[in-house]
Amino acid sequence: MDIKNQIAIVTGGASGLGAGTVRALAAKGAKVAVLDLNEELAKAVAEEVGGIAVKVDVADTDSVAAALATVRDQLGIARIVMNIAGIGIGRKITGRKGPHPLDDFMRVINVNLTGTFDVCRLAATDIATLEPLNEDGERGVFLNVASIFAFDGPVGDTAYAAAKAGIAGMTLPMARDLANYGIRVMTIAPGVFDTPLARSETGEEGFSRLMSIIPFPKRAGKPSEFAQMACHIVENSMLNGEVIRLDASMRMGLMV
Ligand SMILES: NC(=O)c1ccc[n+]([C@@H]2O[C@H](COP(=O)([O-])OP(=O)(O)OC[C@H]3O[C@@H](n4cnc5c(N)ncnc54)[C@H](O)[C@@H]3O)[C@@H](O)[C@H]2O)c1
Repeated sequence: MDIKNQIAIVTGGASGLGAGTVRALAAKGAKVAVLDLNEELAKAVAEEVGGIAVKVDVADTDSVAAALATVRDQLGIARIVMNIAGIGIGRKITGRKGPHPLDDFMRVINVNLTGTFDVCRLAATDIATLEPLNEDGERGVFLNVASIFAFDGPVGDTAYAAAKAGIAGMTLPMARDLANYGIRVMTIAPGVFDTPLARSETGEEGFSRLMSIIPFPKRAGKPSEFAQMACHIVENSMLNGEVIRLDASMRMGLMV
């Protein structure tokens, strides 16, 4: 799909990988809706690229439906939908502080996994009403974000790993469900990227330790490198139903 003149939604677009992707899509000529819980940051990013900012809590289905309606009214139905909003929590399943609070587990699942599914199911229903763009019958493309923790999660990350494994696992069946509508579904599983989330999760010392176990290049990824892959996924129609690791061949050990 040619990105130029398309309408795109980026959840989590106010910061980190999402903000990098908003900038890349806009640079390629898309009209971008920045959907984020952080309204102030979302506005700043949207203003920078001439897009719109819409406050959303992806864990709240009414909020998701309202945000999609706002985008529809202000820009039109978005054919490009990128689910990049996410949160993490570091906690072992049990320990000196007692069992992992169930509420924390559910919050991580609700934001990362249920939020992604909810945006996809509502956006797909809208996109299905649009005319195909080309002779393939392509109508839209979804990009969801897992993590390498979906496959080799370290100690203290069961909730996050479970949510991200869910996102990886639903990629193929969702692509199959949406094939008749001409909507592709892809997932990126990033390694370590230099964003506020990554640094706050690990702390500065943990972040440096992570760099030491990355084979090559021995550094955190840049949001622009994630965005480059995100744009390629939109542009290359043969990519569908797959999870791509973007991780400089990093494999997690026991600990971060
Ligand atoms: N940075 C990494 O190293 C890394 C690695 C693997 C996966 N990821 C994933 O990439 C995605 C982006 O992460 P990032 O590192 O850019 O983080 P970030 O914290 O910089 O950005 C996340 C954005 O999501 C928004 N958000 C959080 N909860 C929300 C909610 N309920 N509704 C709407 N928006 C919400 C935040 O306000 C923030 O703007 C996340 O899904 C994360 O799990 C990041």
